[in-house]
Amino acid sequence: MRITLISILVFCFVMLLSCADTNNNKPFVHPINPNGDSELALLMRDMFEEGMNMREEVKQGKIPTSILEFEKIHSAKATEPEKAASDEYKEYSASFLQTIAALKTGDEEDATHLYTAMVNSCMSCHQAMCPGPMVRIKKMYLE
Ligand code: HEC
Repeated sequence: MRITLISILVFCFVMLLSCADTNNNKPFVHPINPNGDSELALLMRDMFEEGMNMREEVKQGKIPTSILEFEKIHSAKATEPEKAASDEYKEYSASFLQTIAALKTGDEEDATHLYTAMVNSCMSCHQAMCPGPMVRIKKMYLE
């Protein structure tokens, strides 16, 4: 009986400690890169999450209401800053933002093709500059 009580106390103590620990860490940030993630990498991750939400809305025939501040793509600091400073990057990001603008202001009947044009634009910059995440981005296609 006594041993059980002690184990329960120890268990509670450990639980308390581990809760205190999670409070110190920010629960929703999980940096994958041990050197810390660049602003651009974090923005890209948000764009992907947001993109998957947009996908659901487009599938229901709507113009997505949840469009992030993707304009930051011009100013966010990248892991390799020279990459994001290149003319190539600027061209790709400008045409990407055009597809976003078209989607924001488009009609519902065009939602599917405007959304697909946006995903194509994610893919073409990645194909040229950063092919790794393409497997993930492909999940954003409607089918
Ligand atoms: C103009 C070029 C460009 C466009 C357009 C672009 N990306 Fe990226 N993306 C990059 C670059 C460069 C990186 C590497 C960022 C870094 O490491 O600093 C990246 C990184 C990523 C990553 C990996 C982030 C991580 O976890 O490290 C994901 C996921 C991603 N992009 C998704 C997207 C999605 C989704 C879109 C479209 C909604 C998109 N990208 C549009 C250039 C682009």
